[in-house]
Amino acid sequence: MAEFKEISPNASAGAKFGNWMHNRFPTLFEAYRVHMSEYYAPKNFNFWYIFGSLALLVLVIQIVTGIFLVMHYKPDANLAFASVEYIMRDVPWGWLIRYMHSTGASAFFIVVYLHMYRGLIYGSYQKPRELVWIFGCLIFLCLMAEAFMGYLLPWGQMSYWGAQVIVNLFSAIPFIGPDLSLLIRGDYVVSDATLNRFFSFHVIAVPLVLLGLVVAHLLALHDVGSNNPDGIEIKGPKAPKDDKGHPLDGVPFHPYYTVHDVFGVGVFLMVFAAVIFFAPEAGGYFLEYNNFIPADPLKTPLHIAPVWYFTPFYSMLRAITSEMMYALITCVVLGALFGIFKARTAGFLKAIIAVAAVVVVAMMLSIDAKFWGVVTMGGAVIILFFLPWLDNSPVKSIRYRPSWHKYLYGLFVINFLILGYLGVQPPSPIGERVSQVGTLFYFGFFLLMPWWSRLGEPKPVPERVTFAAH
Ligand code: HEM
Repeated sequence: MAEFKEISPNASAGAKFGNWMHNRFPTLFEAYRVHMSEYYAPKNFNFWYIFGSLALLVLVIQIVTGIFLVMHYKPDANLAFASVEYIMRDVPWGWLIRYMHSTGASAFFIVVYLHMYRGLIYGSYQKPRELVWIFGCLIFLCLMAEAFMGYLLPWGQMSYWGAQVIVNLFSAIPFIGPDLSLLIRGDYVVSDATLNRFFSFHVIAVPLVLLGLVVAHLLALHDVGSNNPDGIEIKGPKAPKDDKGHPLDGVPFHPYYTVHDVFGVGVFLMVFAAVIFFAPEAGGYFLEYNNFIPADPLKTPLHIAPVWYFTPFYSMLRAITSEMMYALITCVVLGALFGIFKARTAGFLKAIIAVAAVVVVAMMLSIDAKFWGVVTMGGAVIILFFLPWLDNSPVKSIRYRPSWHKYLYGLFVINFLILGYLGVQPPSPIGERVSQVGTLFYFGFFLLMPWWSRLGEPKPVPERVTFAAH
């Protein structure tokens, strides 16, 4: 047991209360010290470092608004649509709560995509932060599942048909597919049973996992310490320290970065409020117009598209046509030849040949483009988990990589945006070709990273972080 501290009878009421708490719950004070007042973060954080705390803020907004929505929402296929209308029209402030939640979903993805991009450009996934990154990727998967299931709940046309299309994709998986999609739906078509299970997952199961993962993400980060725009370790054995052993290039998280984050929160809330009050549908991107029509299992909408944050991946799914399969087989063969040429050990060489042979045979045996489309879409997210081992660059931050890396990362972003745009559009021959090229570029970027990340001369990395007082 921790030592019981006495306090002067003349101390202020606040100090007495603090002391009373300290004697009964020292762990809380220790957690505050370790994670806030004595968590030393690099002093050169920039604007990109705001999105982690913004993601936390949006998570809280989603949970709080979600709790209030559940008070009035009815998870029943006959009542769900009307209950959402009731929230919008009759429940006091219901419209605000609902728009905060629907805008919050899009805001979450905007913030998380920017947060991930920061990790990408500053090499924050590299040693020793691999686990921070992996927890992040698991969070991203959970977030996608959470958003997908939440979208079914208003029981509009897009909710219904979007779920129908996506759940049907699982039936393309060989052997287990049809049973798996039946298990997910709980019926042969999307129905009341589907709505009930999606509700239960959306409201409790996934948020619990998400919260656990966020805690793991932050604990892992605080164990190894934050990266920074220079990609220099401020806590390593060689890093300069003061006489108390604190890093000279670090500042306590509180108050220095709490103040920084409060500013970010202020700007974010202004934009968030502007969208909620003036454009909650965001031109059909945040809330699709077809979703204002109640679900009708007998009437398929002309054009079914997921919400914008899924569309880059949806484009990749649509890009895999039977014609594209030949291009993919060629890519696998070329990739394997390249790997064989570059392999440095006999074991690696054999592994490349074996994997390539299995993949090519599997592709030729079942040229079922739908299945490979699903593999491509899933693979586009799964590949992110391997980033720490794909990047061979000797320096972390883009600042000290060869200059052409900046253009490559720029192209990656443009390509991702184009894929996203095409995913919202109805299918067209040109769109299909462009998304095929975009898909190849997306995978090429990651799969060829072990090779291109080693090319060129990195710029000299300074000993200390670059920082100008402002
Ligand atoms: C609910 C979603 C998420 C929350 C609440 C969250 C929260 C945070 C916070 C508060 C930080 C520290 C502040 C900062 O560096 O910005 C952080 C760091 C980090 N996060 Fe996340 N995060 C989320 C999702 C993700 C995802 C999806 C990824 C990547 C796939 C990711 C990767 C990282 C990395 C690599 C760092 C360390 C960055 C560095 O030190 O440079 N996070 N996260």
